[in-house]
Amino acid sequence: MRPETLAVHAGRRPDPATGAVSPPLHLSTTYERDPDGAFSRGYVYARGANPNRDALEECLAALEGGAAAVAFASGMAAVDAVIGALPPDRPRRILLPHDIYYGVRSLLAATPAGAGIQTAVVDMTDLGAVAAECAAAPPGLVWIETPSNPLVTVADIAAVAAIARQAGAAVAVDNTWATPLLQTPLALGADVVVHSATKYIGGHSDLMAGIAVVREDGPWLERLRAIQHHRGAVPSAFDCWLALRGAGSLPARMAMHGANAMAVARFLSGHPAVGAVHYPGLESHPGHAVARRQMRGFGGMLSFVVRGGQAAAFAAAAALKVVTRATSLGGTHSLIEHRASIEGASSVAPAGLLRMSVGLEHPDDLIADLGAALDPLA
Ligand SMILES: Cc1ncc(COP(=O)(O)O)c(C=O)c1O
Repeated sequence: MRPETLAVHAGRRPDPATGAVSPPLHLSTTYERDPDGAFSRGYVYARGANPNRDALEECLAALEGGAAAVAFASGMAAVDAVIGALPPDRPRRILLPHDIYYGVRSLLAATPAGAGIQTAVVDMTDLGAVAAECAAAPPGLVWIETPSNPLVTVADIAAVAAIARQAGAAVAVDNTWATPLLQTPLALGADVVVHSATKYIGGHSDLMAGIAVVREDGPWLERLRAIQHHRGAVPSAFDCWLALRGAGSLPARMAMHGANAMAVARFLSGHPAVGAVHYPGLESHPGHAVARRQMRGFGGMLSFVVRGGQAAAFAAAAALKVVTRATSLGGTHSLIEHRASIEGASSVAPAGLLRMSVGLEHPDDLIADLGAALDPLA
């Protein structure tokens, strides 16, 4: 089945008890044993499994073309689980993109989760540099995030995965920005895909969840399931229910996010107050050819640099009336954020950079709003 059909049907079947088409919400944390002590209905305790979580996992595994998915309480919990599930027989060294989402960088730099793990950073769009790093000190895991947050660079998943495999490394891809509708990294050689389902999969800025999807039913799945069960950072039943509901409209939303982002990117490219626009749909983007090859659309995320640095970027953001100044992404509302001030000294974002999650408003209204905010700065 095609992704549009899977997004609506995978993980769902009419409720056998009532015929309800929308799945019931299972809030129970515990389940009755049979008289003989068995659990013939499959459920024991909600940390181990819950019907709404199972349904979400089934849907995401189908969309990513993976063997199984493992759901967590947030994207960061999913990232942490993948790091915790590093293959025990490989080096505890992770090769990261230099412009990785700063939350992952911070996790590895400053918390016990990262203790004992060595990291090296590289420009993941530079295959020669990736090969040199892998040759210098073979990593256990190569981490790809494409498009990246917030510089919107595009890494060639198949090419990086081939280099990683030659070095004996596993490959994880953070697919939050592209979603499985636009990009399926497991088919390009990744072992694990991670999502913040808080973003596009949920799609309405009203839930927190994370997902890790594995290509094979094997050791990665076993280790991730053990972490899910033992560490217990599981999503609530309601968040799973909301995320599954969101997944059904993901194809339609991604098409509209992409069309709106393209229109906004073209407008910003021609504005005199804007120095650079980072959006892979623009022919001028250095990753355009790779994105065209490995993605089925360019997504709803872009960033742009306002001439005049931080003060000008703040002035532009402050003048917006339709676009909301807030962190996060992937919801119906367009959101804008000055990343350098959020991320602090280690940020790779230039002072004038604003990251924009282009929402589902009419593109003409977004363009008018951006124009009114930027015109006084030109
Ligand atoms: C690319 C990427 N990965 C992971 C995360 C973390 O997700 P969460 O906020 O759901 O923990 C984010 C959040 O912004 C993100 O943008």
